Amino acid sequence: MCSKSRGVKKGDRVAVYMPMVLEAVITLLACARIGAIHSLVFAGFSSDSFAERILDCEARVLVTADGAWRGEKLLQLKYICDQAMIKCAQKGFNVETCVVVSHLKRVTSPQGIHYKSNQTPMTEGRDVYWQDIVPQASTSCYPEWMEAEDPLFMLYTSGSTGKPKGVLHTTGGYLLYAATTFKYVFDYKPNDVYWCTADVGWITGHTYVVYGPLANAATSVLYEGTPFYPDNDRFWTIVDKYKVNQFYTAPTAIRALMKFEDDLVKKHDLSSLKVLGSVGEPINPEAWMWYYKLVGHEKCSIVDTFWQTETGGHVLTPLPGATPMKPGAAAFPFFGVQPVLLDESGREIKGEGEGYLVFSRPWPSLMRTLYNNHDRYETTYFTKFPGYYCTGDGAKRDADGYLWVTGRVDDMLNVSGHLMSTTEVESGFNRTPFNSRGCCCCQTHPIKGECLYCFITTTDHAVFGEKLLKELKQLVRERIGPFAQPDVIQNAPALPKTRSGKNHEEDIEEDCR
Ligand code: WTA
Repeated sequence: MCSKSRGVKKGDRVAVYMPMVLEAVITLLACARIGAIHSLVFAGFSSDSFAERILDCEARVLVTADGAWRGEKLLQLKYICDQAMIKCAQKGFNVETCVVVSHLKRVTSPQGIHYKSNQTPMTEGRDVYWQDIVPQASTSCYPEWMEAEDPLFMLYTSGSTGKPKGVLHTTGGYLLYAATTFKYVFDYKPNDVYWCTADVGWITGHTYVVYGPLANAATSVLYEGTPFYPDNDRFWTIVDKYKVNQFYTAPTAIRALMKFEDDLVKKHDLSSLKVLGSVGEPINPEAWMWYYKLVGHEKCSIVDTFWQTETGGHVLTPLPGATPMKPGAAAFPFFGVQPVLLDESGREIKGEGEGYLVFSRPWPSLMRTLYNNHDRYETTYFTKFPGYYCTGDGAKRDADGYLWVTGRVDDMLNVSGHLMSTTEVESGFNRTPFNSRGCCCCQTHPIKGECLYCFITTTDHAVFGEKLLKELKQLVRERIGPFAQPDVIQNAPALPKTRSGKNHEEDIEEDCR
């Protein structure tokens, strides 16, 4: 389509920063059609994070929207993209085309404001409105023929060293696995209505909002908004309205919705539901039971799907109607997947036990490399236990052979299903104008699952107080994104040193964990 006329060809990267609108899905499919590698960045990341990702994959074309409403908050997406493009230019890289979906004028703000698209600054020669160019494009486009191992897309995920990793998925294996897991894990039947609430900017959005359902010709709900707006029963209203049969969400959302009175769920007819999915983090038994009883009326199968950006699709999951359920267990491997538990020395734990979760054989949608960094791919995933793919998660196997994922065993944490590394946040602190040093740990949180607890040492006579706290939080929001904002920042007049008394940065971080 329009990207082709802008010179995008097979193998080129296209950066995408979009709200949950149809054009997001269309952009991905358009890229796939012409063999371009799409690189979506969740539209909650800051301009700094986005710039870093554009630079890493050298995307010359960017697709975004002017803005979007999230509840009562206006997200100025094009403004963030402008900032990111300025930062790229400062590093000597220029985005050549920025396609902007004029979205705000289609929606009315919660305050009743009706935006006009011309309120968004556009840079002549670089920025174009989707609505101006797409209708002009030809409606037919011969597909680019791709080899099974040709890249389909890349998606950044947090790395424990702080630098994001561009996980690369390929055309044949990824699509096959997305289609198969979708069909079997959700037991999707023709004419069913399926809804995955994940944002398209995460892997769950890629595999189970876009590719999996569409490869099965499934009817899906695509939802732009939050579970709490305009009311806290928004999800249940939609399930009722569209008679949703399969519903897929994250434990964070379930825990947040559990807080409200049961009536908000009970007043809706949810009898269409057959399969309820959970993804992104361990689901605690209490949340599982609430989901099962109140939402599923004890007649739905719950599929607690364990997987990662890197795995492309579900690797451990119960199968609806076939696997007797245990609240909080990701249960068994999907077809062809071979999980193994290892102890610290790399010895296999057979039967009951707890250890590192690894896989001993590849499956079709295992990522093939990290974009432009195959060495890092090998060292991150295949070096600790040679011969195995290492997930970075721990798991235990019970007497019945069920697997229970216990959480990360590296320095990553999972805040509301968003994976991030403590180093990422620490390095932000260490670059503050107050010359502060930070050390971040993970704390359990009743709704988000985990949250960031940071210790901060200030120098240069900065006074630890409300003002500084506000500035530090703001800094993390700007450097990474609002979702990475620490919950607690504690004053730590001195940070611990290593046992040998070293002051080396990595050693200090090592010791804090
Ligand atoms: C965690 C999200 C327990 C895990 C699809 C993994 C889970 C990380 C589950 C990947 C689950 C995901 N039970 N933990 N059902 N699903 N995780 O790459 O720590 O954003 O390594 O992919 O989320 O997060 P990612």
